[in-house]
Amino acid sequence: MSTNYLSVFPEALRESARLVQRSREARLSNRQRGIRIESLSLSDRRALLAEAHPDYREGGRRALVVGTSKGSEMPCELANLLESWPRPSIMRLLKEQGDSQVASRAGAWIETLTPDIITDVLVIGGGGAGTAAAIVAAEKGAKVVLATKLRHGDSNTRMAEGGMQVADHECDSPAQHFLDIMGGGHFSSNADLVEAMVTEAPAILRWLEELGMLFDKYPTGRMKVRHGGGTSRKRVHAAGDVTGLEMMRVLKDRMNCQEEISVLQFSPAVELLTDENGRAVGAVLEQITTGKVIVVQAKAVILATGGFGRLHFQGFPTSNHPGATADGLVLAYRAGVPLRDLQNCQYHPTGVMFPEKLTGLLLTEKFRGLGAQILNRHGEEFVFSLEPRDVTTAAIIRECTEFGNGVTVPGGGVGVWLDIPMIDFIHGRGTIEREFPGRYKEYHAMGLDLRQVPLLAFPTLHYQNGGVVIWPNGGTDMPGLFAAGEVTGGVHGRNRLMGNALLEIMVFGRRAGLSAAEFAATSRHVQDPGLGHLEAFLEQLESAGIQPGITAPRLLPTYGTVQPV
Ligand code: FUM
Repeated sequence: MSTNYLSVFPEALRESARLVQRSREARLSNRQRGIRIESLSLSDRRALLAEAHPDYREGGRRALVVGTSKGSEMPCELANLLESWPRPSIMRLLKEQGDSQVASRAGAWIETLTPDIITDVLVIGGGGAGTAAAIVAAEKGAKVVLATKLRHGDSNTRMAEGGMQVADHECDSPAQHFLDIMGGGHFSSNADLVEAMVTEAPAILRWLEELGMLFDKYPTGRMKVRHGGGTSRKRVHAAGDVTGLEMMRVLKDRMNCQEEISVLQFSPAVELLTDENGRAVGAVLEQITTGKVIVVQAKAVILATGGFGRLHFQGFPTSNHPGATADGLVLAYRAGVPLRDLQNCQYHPTGVMFPEKLTGLLLTEKFRGLGAQILNRHGEEFVFSLEPRDVTTAAIIRECTEFGNGVTVPGGGVGVWLDIPMIDFIHGRGTIEREFPGRYKEYHAMGLDLRQVPLLAFPTLHYQNGGVVIWPNGGTDMPGLFAAGEVTGGVHGRNRLMGNALLEIMVFGRRAGLSAAEFAATSRHVQDPGLGHLEAFLEQLESAGIQPGITAPRLLPTYGTVQPV
């Protein structure tokens, strides 16, 4: 790294960047001799999490006071959304249907709605999980409507960079993969879900290849695999640093060949529909562009709405897509579906801190998988870079806030270095450009040559570890309702490891699609879609003294407006 390269940094960062450069040779030599910072013991990990992870901050979370998961703790911002009132469009809809008492008396909300669209399977969400579900449901003969909040494919899937875990190499096995997930999630995952996922993973890899997905390979055709944080074997498969984009490309291509699937874009679901037996029978959509309400009646419904990363808990920046506003959790919870594991949120250790205009966006874990190290302002390593995510995150926060060893950027934020140039020193010149084509070009355009300069990073809100309780077939506790992907809980327990989200959305997206199609095929004609489930929920809100004020689902972040959550 020459002084020339460093001139892209403000003066205040340069001296510390020089220390990173100076310590690099010694760090490389240690690496070659097998000397590295040891992973923490389980008890040290627990102590570090309690000391510095955002989940444990005083006042950051509260227990739900109403609903099926009453008593469960979660971030206050999320609890406030789950215990909120329906959107105005639902009130208007009901009034138009002719019940003038609807706004004042919860018991009158059970009026049957007239459907605008009737289908076999309604998929809510157009990311990886929803698209995989729609593909499989249609293959099984179901007529499918896929409703998506923004454009089809605009989702966290598309933004995923680092890869997908699959145990397909000789030195690895699904059993090993299983153990890593269980340990990484603090032994709180649902073992049946994990078993289903790891054993199906190799078939998913084959399916995606058949669809045309281009994974990183050696010239021999053998798949390249890397370490992720908390993995005991190299098993992360990637497509450069644009793995999710590549996945979404082939899924959309496949879906576009299926005439049985209709897509409604810019049409998020704002309430589920239920029948008098408490079965899910469709959803109310609200067109973002026009505000128009569309009632979709379906024999089976698949919730694949993604997570909550755009809710910026505790003011944290986020790596997430703007659509990640917890809509599916809100819909499911009002309908009486239990939730799990929402007390622990995932903060990705390396969100961007400098350049500041990219604050919160991802510096993929694949950088660390290939040898980039995390360093403090003295150019010193203070944590093994591939600890499970929650542990690395807590270590960075402690280093910056307690020990004062972070680097302060001009805007006032603080971060630690991610020494990306290490990668070319370890694996040879050309590796960074080849393995990270997306980020290399992006930063190059800003005058930052990733082969030469480290970047500053700080934890960013990244993933919803928990969510709707599901079964291995993608079913939920509500008949007719299936769910897949980030909206669900149980696979990752209290902490997800890198590369298991892309796998999860494929495995459980496909399973939910299959189960929903089978359910629809055996269901007789659906009758009386309504909003009866709201009656009980709103009565509980009223008895708990929660008045109309906050409405949900939120649909999009409310930047620039003041809205209590
Ligand atoms: O760092 C990453 O590329 C993120 C991957 C993941 O969340 O699975």
